[in-house]
Amino acid sequence: MNNKFKQQIIEKVGFFEQDIDPSLDLFEEIQDLKKQKNAVILAHFYQDADIQDVSDFIGDSLSLAREALQSSADIIVFAGVHFMAETAKILNPTRKVLVPDLKAGCSLSDSCPPALFERFRKDHPDHTVITYINCSAQIKALSDVICTSSNAKKIVESFPEDHPIIFAPDKNLGAYLNVITNRKMLLWNGACMVHEIFSQRKINLLREKYPKAAVIVHPECETTIIELADFIGSTNQLLDYTVKSNIQQFIVVTESGIIHQMKKKSPYKEFIPAPPDNACACNNCPHMKLNTLEKLYLCLKNENPEITMSNDLLEKALIPMQRMIELS
Ligand code: 13P
Ligand code: SF4
Repeated sequence: MNNKFKQQIIEKVGFFEQDIDPSLDLFEEIQDLKKQKNAVILAHFYQDADIQDVSDFIGDSLSLAREALQSSADIIVFAGVHFMAETAKILNPTRKVLVPDLKAGCSLSDSCPPALFERFRKDHPDHTVITYINCSAQIKALSDVICTSSNAKKIVESFPEDHPIIFAPDKNLGAYLNVITNRKMLLWNGACMVHEIFSQRKINLLREKYPKAAVIVHPECETTIIELADFIGSTNQLLDYTVKSNIQQFIVVTESGIIHQMKKKSPYKEFIPAPPDNACACNNCPHMKLNTLEKLYLCLKNENPEITMSNDLLEKALIPMQRMIELS
């Protein structure tokens, strides 16, 4: 590859993976860079095992947002998808927030384009807008309050039962919340491509094979899958359940990256990933998996790609985030 083309790649995406000396121990290099630069690495449970192992904090969306808020590091490297890194920036406008791969997006966030959502909001001026954190900063700026899968029930129940609410962008989480909170929220028609493709038939086959196993399900799944669950919760809540429960086997109905922490915390328990409705044995998020240890190393070394936003957007998106933090 000629140098001009290589330079174009570096300018566009901020790194060129083949530049890494293969003799480097990336775990050690990353630890050294963190100390040198007073940086912290926050990772979501859906990241690859080696990224989780090199990170300072691993969590679900709510705990990651809280950790980002408390951080005193000069640099926050967010090993997760774009909306998560954006959230860290909204909460820490003066700090440098880096993400290993800027292209690590989210199908759920993409299912809610700001221009369409703004019109939808205007069509329902009497409604309060509760928005799941899996959305862009522009959508956050159009919302009244943000929620995550950990605190969504609490946030919805903080409004009177007859209060008109729009819930966006996840129709599956919204439908589940409507049932458990006895609400009739108006739902935006978005969904997560990972949680939407679990197979009811294959989970039932697994239940026959492992009759003593508990089926644990993330609420981004469709209603037909949620109905099979023994326990429903955010990634943190699913992990806690596997630690505290006396049950020894779990059929895990969420992105399979979390099984790494489940095994670490309960090495003698068995975790069976629920398969999607395709030829794969387990369900991975292609966006989360764009991040690699190599990209993490390069982004910390080069301090690039960085999350940037206008001050106006940062200020508008912070208001519903602060409201979530107050309410939860
Ligand atoms: P939580 O980790 O907050 O449960 O969210 C899951 C998810 O899909 C993140 O993209
Ligand atoms: Fe988005 Fe779904 Fe991937 Fe989470 S698992 S980042 S909601 S596409």
